[in-house]
Amino acid sequence: MEFAADTFGKLNAEDYDALNDPGTTNESTAFLAELYGSGSRVLELAIGSGRMALPLVQKGISISGIEGSEAMVDLLRAKPGGRDIGIEVGDMAAADGYQIDGPFDHAFLVFNTLFNLTTQAAQVQCFRNVAAKLNPGGTFLIETFVPDLSSFKNFQHLTTKRLDMGFVWLEAAVHDPLAQRLDMQRVRILPDGVKLVPLQMRYAFPPEIDLMAQLAGFNLASRWGGWNREPFDRDSKMHVSLYRLR
Ligand SMILES: C[S@@+](CC[C@H](N)C(=O)[O-])C[C@H]1O[C@@H](n2cnc3c(N)ncnc32)[C@H](O)[C@@H]1O
Repeated sequence: MEFAADTFGKLNAEDYDALNDPGTTNESTAFLAELYGSGSRVLELAIGSGRMALPLVQKGISISGIEGSEAMVDLLRAKPGGRDIGIEVGDMAAADGYQIDGPFDHAFLVFNTLFNLTTQAAQVQCFRNVAAKLNPGGTFLIETFVPDLSSFKNFQHLTTKRLDMGFVWLEAAVHDPLAQRLDMQRVRILPDGVKLVPLQMRYAFPPEIDLMAQLAGFNLASRWGGWNREPFDRDSKMHVSLYRLR
């Protein structure tokens, strides 16, 4: 099975908010609110259940969204203020872009979601689609992990995510270094049965992401190692990268 734009939501929407809190929402929304300033028009790609968008609206930022999954949009709509955000359900990497009314001053794509696009071509197209919707000098901010393949042996890895007397959650993954693909299966062995939640990702290191950005007309403006503006260095586990349209 290949992941389409709505696959993640179909598999995860049911318990997304309970199980997918990165623990950085306060820092990241404060960072973006300061960067953008009130009154700017901002596009969030893969807006999901509104984890970032709803607090940003509260801070005076005008947000619109693109989201591949109706199920994720339903979660956002059910929250206070969720119905006031303009959202287009569609693929952020669609070959013909998206229709949502722009132009925007800024766009962002966080929580490793660039890697949910499982080919290099789709990731480049995502940058191009954003560029087409931004004002000159507009910015595009990306947050992803820095790939760390040190736990893989023979292109495989298996880890225990959670464990108690009555259950265990495992993560099994295989790595294809040629496609830069991680094919994962989150295996939850529970008292009432086994639940499988697959995930596919195409990872990229920061220099490749910079090149994708350049192909779409952006230059790297700043890069941090975290939402508290930590310096980015070889020990950084993640990066927050800000690109500016030329
Ligand atoms: C890890 S969640 C992040 C959601 C939200 N941005 C956040 O930070 O909580 C990934 C989101 O990307 C969406 N998504 C995955 N592929 C997509 C695509 N090709 N186009 C648009 N949205 C996509 C999923 O439906 C999901 O809502």
